[in-house]
Amino acid sequence: MSQPLEGQVALVTGASRGIGHEIAMELARQGADVVVAARSKDRVEPVAQEIEKLGRKSLALELDVANLEQVQESAKVIGEALGKVTVLVNNAGVTRDQLLARMKADDWNQVLQINLNGTFYCTKVFSRDMMRARSGRIINISSVIGTIGNAGQTNYAASKAAVHGLTRSVAKELGSRGVTVNAIAPGYIQTAMTQELGEDVQASLLKSIPLGRLGEPGDIAKVVSFLASPSAAYITGQVIHVDGGMVMA
Ligand SMILES: NC(=O)c1ccc[n+]([C@@H]2O[C@H](COP(=O)([O-])OP(=O)(O)OC[C@H]3O[C@@H](n4cnc5c(N)ncnc54)[C@H](O)[C@@H]3O)[C@@H](O)[C@H]2O)c1
Repeated sequence: MSQPLEGQVALVTGASRGIGHEIAMELARQGADVVVAARSKDRVEPVAQEIEKLGRKSLALELDVANLEQVQESAKVIGEALGKVTVLVNNAGVTRDQLLARMKADDWNQVLQINLNGTFYCTKVFSRDMMRARSGRIINISSVIGTIGNAGQTNYAASKAAVHGLTRSVAKELGSRGVTVNAIAPGYIQTAMTQELGEDVQASLLKSIPLGRLGEPGDIAKVVSFLASPSAAYITGQVIHVDGGMVMA
């Protein structure tokens, strides 16, 4: 029986661990060939091997999304190895938390450079072939913090709110070309990024989550694979909060 993503070539940035790793695996389970990209090739090679064990093609790629030249170069490398990217998942992201009064310009710039400019660079480069093909899926991983804000995360919140604006604008530009563009805003998902939070912070967070648990990477990955699938053909320009009910608009 054919699978929903058969014939698709997906690129997942920041796929070495956490949410990106699980997104890459889920897309492969649903039939896609998957390029797994991160700043260090060594870290994504095991992920590519896992994908190949599922009978799918994969490519482990060294890619810093904050470097436009590397992004442009990667499009050529992927094209030769697996073909044109039809599903782009902008997942790579970082935090540099600090109260505004103590935040250094470097903390601000680094977070904006990776979370926002990296999303812009990849979207610009990989949407070109999607427009030509008159089909494609772009899925940006933002955060509930981009919607509700958070003390100590002005840089991160600004970067993720900007991704929401970018998502809606690109969706308007590319809709007539058959390309859908959506963002998934995760709540608190159990990964290395949230392990840094102390136990008391985690306990108080739980009180703000109606479903009463932190999320798992699979909670996000399943929504990504739905948005990439033919079933989601009429959804574009949306910011979907996947957060156990933390944000209700
Ligand atoms: N974990 C959460 O609770 C949570 C909540 C909301 C949003 N998010 C978002 O989900 C995404 C994944 O987060 P995670 O929790 O899995 O984090 P993580 O730190 O475990 O993984 C982040 C990944 O991004 C990669 N990365 C960082 N900078 C990069 C760069 N310049 N180029 C390429 N890759 C780079 C890292 O190597 C890693 O693979 C991020 O965009 C994050 O902001 C996470």
